Amino acid sequence: MGLFVTFEGVEGSGKTTLINRLYDEMTQLGYPVLKTREPGGNKISEQIRGIILDVENKEMDYRTEALLYAASRRQHLVEVIRPALAAGKTVLCDRFLDSSLAYQGHARGLGIDKVYEINLYATEGILPDVTVYIDVDPMEGLNRINNAHRAVDRLDLETAAFHAKVRAGYLLIAEKFPERIRIVDGNKPLADIYSEIKKIVFARLAGR
Ligand SMILES: Nc1ncnc2c1ncn2[C@@H]1O[C@H](COP(=O)(O)OP(=O)(O)OP(=O)(O)O)[C@@H](O)[C@H]1O
Ligand SMILES: [Mg+2]
Repeated sequence: MGLFVTFEGVEGSGKTTLINRLYDEMTQLGYPVLKTREPGGNKISEQIRGIILDVENKEMDYRTEALLYAASRRQHLVEVIRPALAAGKTVLCDRFLDSSLAYQGHARGLGIDKVYEINLYATEGILPDVTVYIDVDPMEGLNRINNAHRAVDRLDLETAAFHAKVRAGYLLIAEKFPERIRIVDGNKPLADIYSEIKKIVFARLAGR
């Protein structure tokens, strides 16, 4: 089985940038590696995603949303992640179940334990071998994405409040699963964060 690594953090924390770098370097070094993100390009997960994100679906219940995310994750796992792990590849996945724990479980208030349960059902207990949580002030993350062309408006503030809850959720989850989740300080320069992440992943690969 390959090593299953997931990357988590609020928007703008640097997940995609760091995964891309690690994927490129590992590929150059000759490691078999797969880079993926939900819905992972498979048809069923894409269709479920369409339902979740459809702006017409205003009446969507939070539990329905959590179940749909879990269902979409299930199909991505079965079609993409599990076969890659079985082929011995290192899988680098941009967000996975901890996103549901932080967003639906904590920020939406469904409860981290409840959302964890339905996700364990969805993944048949398959969990990442290691999860890199990039911890950043959500305002900093939003600033990186929005950049500084205009003043912060009411909507940005609401988003920031929601994302503050998401971050608090991530910190609770990291406390709950200290053996799986590694917290990385996302406020540092990218090069520093990258070398820290590289150390974490290569240490796990060496230990196999
Ligand atoms: N440590 C850092 N310091 C400064 N800028 C950074 C850092 N990490 C990422 N950035 C920049 O912030 C922006 C957002 O990064 P990135 O897209 O990787 O975040 P993300 O976590 O994937 O966000 P999303 O959840 O929205 O996909 C990019 O322009 C990236 O270059
Ligand atoms: Mg991204």
